[in-house]
Amino acid sequence: MEEYRVAWQQAATNPEDFWASVASHFQWMRPWEKVLDADFNTAKISWFAGARLNITENALDRHVKTQAQAPALIWEPNDPADQVKVFSYADLLAHVERTAGMLRRLGIKKGDTVGIYLPMVPELVFSVLACARIGAIHSVVFGGFSAQALADRLNDAACKLVITADEGLRGPKKIPLKSIVDEALIQVPSVETVLMLTRTGTEVSVQANRDELWEEAWKHPDNTKNTAAEVMDAEDPLFILYTSGSTGKPKGVVHTTAGYMVWTAYTFVNAFQYRPGELHFCTADIGWITGHSYLVYGPLLAGACSLMYEGLPNWPTENRWWETIEKHGVNIFYTAPTALRSLMAENKQAPMAYNMPSLRVLGSVGEPINAEAWHWFKQAVGKGRCALTDTWWQTETGGIMIASLAGITPEQPTYAGLPMPGIVPVLMDAHGIEIQETQAEGNLCLVQAWPGMMRTVYRDHDRMRTTYFTAYPGAYFTGDGCLRSAQGMHRITGRVDDVLNVSGHRLGTAELENAINHHPNVSESAVVGYPHPIKGQGICAYVVTDQRIEAQAELQDQLIKLVIQHIGPIAKPDIWVLIPGLPKTRSGKIMRRILRKIAEHQSDSIGDVSTLLNPEIVPAIDKAFKRATR
Ligand code: PRX
Repeated sequence: MEEYRVAWQQAATNPEDFWASVASHFQWMRPWEKVLDADFNTAKISWFAGARLNITENALDRHVKTQAQAPALIWEPNDPADQVKVFSYADLLAHVERTAGMLRRLGIKKGDTVGIYLPMVPELVFSVLACARIGAIHSVVFGGFSAQALADRLNDAACKLVITADEGLRGPKKIPLKSIVDEALIQVPSVETVLMLTRTGTEVSVQANRDELWEEAWKHPDNTKNTAAEVMDAEDPLFILYTSGSTGKPKGVVHTTAGYMVWTAYTFVNAFQYRPGELHFCTADIGWITGHSYLVYGPLLAGACSLMYEGLPNWPTENRWWETIEKHGVNIFYTAPTALRSLMAENKQAPMAYNMPSLRVLGSVGEPINAEAWHWFKQAVGKGRCALTDTWWQTETGGIMIASLAGITPEQPTYAGLPMPGIVPVLMDAHGIEIQETQAEGNLCLVQAWPGMMRTVYRDHDRMRTTYFTAYPGAYFTGDGCLRSAQGMHRITGRVDDVLNVSGHRLGTAELENAINHHPNVSESAVVGYPHPIKGQGICAYVVTDQRIEAQAELQDQLIKLVIQHIGPIAKPDIWVLIPGLPKTRSGKIMRRILRKIAEHQSDSIGDVSTLLNPEIVPAIDKAFKRATR
């Protein structure tokens, strides 16, 4: 604890020396000239300027020198009866080199963008790292997004090549990835090549002059000829990852090479108190930032072994994760509250039958963890002997920001805890003034630059500045509310903007409304979140329509299809309320507060509606809500 305090203080008062010292452990082709340059007014951030490196040399080649035969990646397939795959650091490097050579042979070079729409198979890790090796910018799109959502992302990033598979497997279900790609590409002129892996062997359409089969392309003898790591500047982009905001279309969050490397490695080792030789199991899909930072980059940079899991948490049975932990001897298990809650709901007793003696550290990420899930995780899964770290962070932050350092800094149920060294959180009040009292609640901001922070919104830097740096001048605004205890512990209370967190998936209300409003019988709509016992937040959609009541069921089906078509099944609203109009202020602003209250079954405490242009609409909406949820 004392070491933590000293480190936090040093990083806060002299970040340049602190991070230079951390960075000195990596392999650089050329040293940096300036550690840090940050201006929160223009949103210009640079770390380790002038340095040259390749992140894959740090994640792979560096470890091959000292532990070539140590396992780097273990793949646990969807079906437990299928063959596990294990890659040592030497194997993984060889696969990444070959993939890199293959991509170069297919015309990809430094600065090109590559879309990746793959299931959770080892080739996904090879592809991500191969891009990094040749300096191509990877843009991974989660396999649960629809053709339209995929097209939007591929277009925004102007991807030249897409890597996909015939199908993906999720428990008993097959996801038709290639046909989704085919549909998306009708709208994406920039894509010249599709590289398709065979996962299930189902027959899919192949377009001559565009589609290449991974297995064929892989065999080409020239793949091994051009595999050298590209020389990258510290601030060269490493990847784009799209995430939802409160307005507009998803943003392409850009992370760059050196800072992201230092931050993911440092936070992986420190938050989990990683010990050499340990096996880390991060259950996140690589389509999300957690998978990027703590399945791929963080563990590999630290020389750890990362377990990659293809399927669903509860398939074929609710014991699958506990069996997987015992089968491989997992030491660090990092997952999301929503998964814990759904497993608890299925069978609270299930983990009791598994001793899981290898487990040492548990981690939670993605959404607030409620006390019941926290205690169940700690006791039923961790048998009361594992440290539990609740890690708060965001796509934009690159890595873990507020979390207990496993077994070192204090753990408190529902509190993420203390900031990592380098992180200076402050709370702002409703007037934009920093709250000085320790025990307080406010909007969470960060006032010091950290190496892993996002650098820009892809091809829209002004969006970076206005989204994060204008609400509270001089500070990065997280969009989250936060309660700080008298001891300085941080409890994240959830988003204070119009971003939803549904089963740990981040969704923008504007995107949902945009999808719903495509229906010809819908004049407008408003989407809000409400507390949901398993998903964390459920989605309630209020839809203004002239449809007759009798036609409602049919309309609802059509609206669900629209949401699936525009975003994907993860965004399906739980409650549909058809209403005659939305509550609006005189200036035409939708009063979402009222809609939230109704969705939370708190229409008794709506309060003053006198500023509304149409106060009479409120009881009508409440009545429609009660009818819809009866
Ligand atoms: O609201 C916070 C919530 O997830 C948001 C970030 O979502 P995303 O960019 O998808 O990244 C998720 C994985 C890092 C945050 O603004 N959030 C994330 N972790 C926690 C959390 N809320 C409470 N506790 C957490 N540990």
